[in-house]
Amino acid sequence: MASVVVRPAARVHGRLTIPGDKSISHRYALLAALADGPSTISHYAPGADCATTLACLAALGVVIDGPREARTGDHDSCAGTVTIQGRGIGGLVAPTSVLDAGNSGTTLRLLSGVLAGHPFNSVITGDRSLRRRPMQRIIEPLCRMGADLSAVDNRPPITIRGAALRGIDFTPQVASAQVKTAILLAGLLASGETTVRERHATRDHTELAFPVFGVVLTRRDGAVTVRGGQRLAGANLTVPGDVSSAAFWATAAAALPRSDLTLDDVGLNPTRIGYLALLKRVGARVELIASTETGGEPRGSLRVSHGGNTRLDLGPDDVPGVIDELPVLAALATHGGELRVTGAAELRNKESDRITALAAGLRGLGGRVEEMADGFHVVGDRRLQGGTADAAGDHRLAMAFAIAALGGTRPSEILNAEAVDVSYPGFFDVLASISQH
Ligand code: S3P
Repeated sequence: MASVVVRPAARVHGRLTIPGDKSISHRYALLAALADGPSTISHYAPGADCATTLACLAALGVVIDGPREARTGDHDSCAGTVTIQGRGIGGLVAPTSVLDAGNSGTTLRLLSGVLAGHPFNSVITGDRSLRRRPMQRIIEPLCRMGADLSAVDNRPPITIRGAALRGIDFTPQVASAQVKTAILLAGLLASGETTVRERHATRDHTELAFPVFGVVLTRRDGAVTVRGGQRLAGANLTVPGDVSSAAFWATAAAALPRSDLTLDDVGLNPTRIGYLALLKRVGARVELIASTETGGEPRGSLRVSHGGNTRLDLGPDDVPGVIDELPVLAALATHGGELRVTGAAELRNKESDRITALAAGLRGLGGRVEEMADGFHVVGDRRLQGGTADAAGDHRLAMAFAIAALGGTRPSEILNAEAVDVSYPGFFDVLASISQH
């Protein structure tokens, strides 16, 4: 699947179940590997990224049972339930070859935190996209904790010489849940207390997952503290649907008049649903139908339909809460809205340079987009003509371009569309199933 043609749609309609949350799946898998005894994780995220975490854990001696595609990255079908035999805290074994995190920054950064506290050497690398992403943000604090991490130009591959760690009190320079989590995971293996202080709140799945595995932590005024040396207990968990994946469908429904979509079993963690508030702010109708909670994570069904599409301005304080949804918000703006984003230079460090590649792709579809150093401006004052957009190896761009292309006057081609497999295998089949022409 090198390229995919997306036909314009008059509206989207239907009811969908959303694949498991990627961020939560990574965390549950890593914590299960460090726990005593088995854990069972249901509705594990089906994409290549989360399969990569399992493959790395398997290379570190963890026994994992589950669908073959969940473990190997062969993800033609949805992953289901994964059982992980925990090796206990500090119990991973030295890998016999280089660990490959593929396209997954979360795998690489979180696993680095875990490996920093294991007394062996390892090397962790990734694909071309991951090898350009900055790692100083984890290397520096993990070295302060006593490990020895090195990387040429602070980009993967990273060589990790694990050691006996000591806790630190750390305030990250960038708002990053990956950095926070890497340090907290290392903190589990460190002596004394580790505290991470956030200037801007980021997703808190790690803070919610620790207690589920029996870890005591404290949260106060934007600071999270964990004491090292605690034993983790295996757990049986169900991952909620990924709200960042649901965002693509919610946007399609918000963009196209007379649409009506119900999205079932979506994670509704308050640190992840800033996007839904923005949809409402531009005029869309977003209704929460029912909600429950598992593992401390709220979840529920959403019903979304078109209501309006007014101008939106987002600044540095808005960005951390919607970092993964900025591409699809840009797609929404091409459907007759307008979006100006500043304070989002971090987008350049994602799976692609998500400012340049987003602007290029939307322009290729006929959009009016201005690129800034730390953001972009999309003006949806004319209907897209349709055209060609290159996903540039970035799953969220492939999906955002598809949602923009629904509003074209003619079909569009998304190049390198297979990138969707990183988080949403089957995305284009689902798109076809809900599109009405
Ligand atoms: C993630 C955190 C975010 C996000 C990524 C997943 C996580 O990255 O963009 O898709 O699971 O912690 P940063 O922490 O680098 O902002």
